[in-house]
Amino acid sequence: MSGKPSFYITTPIYYVNDIPHIGHAYTTLACDYLARFKRLDGFDVMFLTGTDEHGQKVEKSAAAAGKSPLEFCDEVSQRFRELAEFMNFSNDDFIRTTEERHKKACQALWKRLEENGHIYLDKYAGWYSVRDEAFFGENELIEGEGGEKLAPTGAPIEWVEEESYFFRLSAFEDKLLAFYEELPATVLPRSRKNEVKSFVEGGLRDLSVSRTSFNWGVPVPGNDKHIMYVWIDALTNYMTAAGYPDEDGEMYKKFWPADIHMMGKDILRFHALYWPAFLMGAGLDPAKRVFAHGWWTNEGQKISKSLGNVIDPFQIVEEFGLDQVRYFLMREVPFGNDGDFSRHSMINRINSDLANDLGNLAQRSLSMIFKNCDGAMPSPGDLSDADETILAEVEALLPKVREHIDVQAIHKSLETIWKVVSNANVYFAGEEPWALKKTDPDRMATVLYVTAEVIRQIGILIQPIMPDSAAKLLDQLKIPAEERGFDQLGGDHRLASGTAMDKPEGVFPRFLDK
Ligand code: MSP
Repeated sequence: MSGKPSFYITTPIYYVNDIPHIGHAYTTLACDYLARFKRLDGFDVMFLTGTDEHGQKVEKSAAAAGKSPLEFCDEVSQRFRELAEFMNFSNDDFIRTTEERHKKACQALWKRLEENGHIYLDKYAGWYSVRDEAFFGENELIEGEGGEKLAPTGAPIEWVEEESYFFRLSAFEDKLLAFYEELPATVLPRSRKNEVKSFVEGGLRDLSVSRTSFNWGVPVPGNDKHIMYVWIDALTNYMTAAGYPDEDGEMYKKFWPADIHMMGKDILRFHALYWPAFLMGAGLDPAKRVFAHGWWTNEGQKISKSLGNVIDPFQIVEEFGLDQVRYFLMREVPFGNDGDFSRHSMINRINSDLANDLGNLAQRSLSMIFKNCDGAMPSPGDLSDADETILAEVEALLPKVREHIDVQAIHKSLETIWKVVSNANVYFAGEEPWALKKTDPDRMATVLYVTAEVIRQIGILIQPIMPDSAAKLLDQLKIPAEERGFDQLGGDHRLASGTAMDKPEGVFPRFLDK
């Protein structure tokens, strides 16, 4: 086992009743960005994603498609794997809840809860929404257009009356409230934490955790008439992938408790309330943080299948480019807030931040080096104040960016980097190396060297967000693969003068709208 610190980050596992859309791509992309950042920053990372394949909703969707549940799951789960590959996600594992390892983990966790006296058999009578896979109290329901009762999400509900196992959630109110305050930020953003806290403060009822009216799920150990509630099954995936129930295993010891469970705001309650309560009940540690991000709308409208405005990640990447889409999604909206997807803002970001700011700076400076410095990295002369200032700025970036990453302020991490890109442009324009070519070639060489060095460090820092483009920039600068970690940032690892360069090619093309 390496001596590196560990970092375990998870996406929600995606329902297979739907094909992947922008919402799924967004959650996983955020995790990919954080996971890649941590790897470059010296952590031993485990990044998990996967598919949530059990439950009544999936059983119904499979039947509607005329397939067996497993056949149906195999196909849709595969689409999610393809998305991960297509979007260049660096997940270390892909879990499916239909796997044997997962069944084992679920049953072990259940037994622990039962042994600890937190599960009892009773009868459930109440409202259930299959679409949300959630139970609702009468007081939570809303009225539909025709006066019908609906779940708070607008989903149809049905009255359910059946024998069911219950989890003693009501016994965990105080423990949960204490847990939210125990670590500095168990739930982020802060407003979300307050939302969860008030819900708990309002009082918790015991939770029905098994169903007898369908079969597609993990059987309750010792009573296979009962299938585990799909959320207890789904949430356990995070432990399965860490090797549970092998609590003495290397994986478990290294990676549990997880550092971050990432998800959209709609499923925060399951992660910040049920899940820590289950784990506490089993005598296990809850994850150190859950982060709930916002939702995307499309050109100002709620995204929904019925409106036909679902954004297909495969299609937008085809049109705008992979790294461009990755950058846009992470940069455009303060992470945690809702955001709007529009063609206009996408094109704007591509052309201003990428093509104009970073792309031009790199292309202009590297072309000048290739043409005017005998095709090799020049040697700098004495550094001026302006040279020192821009180098100091880029060399001070890592701790600042890290601070934002530590609280998942993803947009701010990028904003901080791009502030230096913008200052580097001001520096470059102010020094006018093209004019120095005739008047002072040595000074020109210094300016080009300093600019290239800034690009080297920016190139290293943007690997998590735009892995392919960053690699192209670093290739052009002839930086070997093993010299691309964050330990290579700072003044001790500056570019070697004399390295032969190739004719550079633009890395960030302008997007020309038809
Ligand atoms: N299967 C459950 C999660 C179980 S985790 C133990 C589930 N799956 S899901 O496929 O419906 O949703 C997964 C994620 O997609 C959620 O984080 C959700 O917030 C996100 N999104 C779905 N639509 C979205 C947008 N329009 N915008 C941003 N994210 C959205 O819930």
